[in-house]
Amino acid sequence: MEPMPHETSDETARVREFFSVRAARWDARFPDDGPAYEAAVGELGLREGDSVLDAGCGTGRALPPLRAAVGRRGTVLAADVTPEMIAEAVRAGRLASGRLLLADVRRLPLRTASLDAVFAAGLVSHLGGPEAGLRELARVVRPGGALALFHPVGRAALAERQGRVLSPDDVRAGPNLRTLLAGSGWRLTSLDDGEDRYLALAARAE
Ligand SMILES: C[S@@+](CC[C@H](N)C(=O)[O-])C[C@H]1O[C@@H](n2cnc3c(N)ncnc32)[C@H](O)[C@@H]1O
Repeated sequence: MEPMPHETSDETARVREFFSVRAARWDARFPDDGPAYEAAVGELGLREGDSVLDAGCGTGRALPPLRAAVGRRGTVLAADVTPEMIAEAVRAGRLASGRLLLADVRRLPLRTASLDAVFAAGLVSHLGGPEAGLRELARVVRPGGALALFHPVGRAALAERQGRVLSPDDVRAGPNLRTLLAGSGWRLTSLDDGEDRYLALAARAE
């Protein structure tokens, strides 16, 4: 596990406060999501030997399918800013599938264009100022590489679960997301904004 090489911001403190108390029960709360993660990873277009980052990995639920997709020759990295989530990932044995980084996805300790793809489940709505985060993800992905923004629950169902009304300002709504991605180095290539899941796929602009 790598230490985070920069100071803690208010935004980081807010995210940690929210997720630290949820980490221990995270996997038990959502025991049936595995097949949805496998399907979403399958649509990212990874090949044997590729390098991929799970951004905002939480307990690392996506790591086993990501490892299966890139094989033993591939590289699987996973970054999360909440120490308790990383600790749960270790406890759940996710180190067997990839390397865990305690890091903010807005300032990644990774070389420019060093990855083929990024998988980010449940992340984008928690990034205050998502454009900076998406731009940093674009920096570390090679031109033509891929991004998946995923959630195993549809936007409307998630809003209902959280007692919110779905707002037209939602960053994940199609028109908002297309603009956001275009301004941060990505091109939206497909969007499944259905009832059962959310999956936006984008390509790193050349
Ligand atoms: C809704 S959870 C999803 C966790 C995991 N991807 C999953 O699907 O189970 C969002 C995660 O993003 C992390 N996160 C939020 N902002 C982050 C940031 N700027 N850098 C790294 N991780 C972040 C949180 O700590 C949390 O673990």
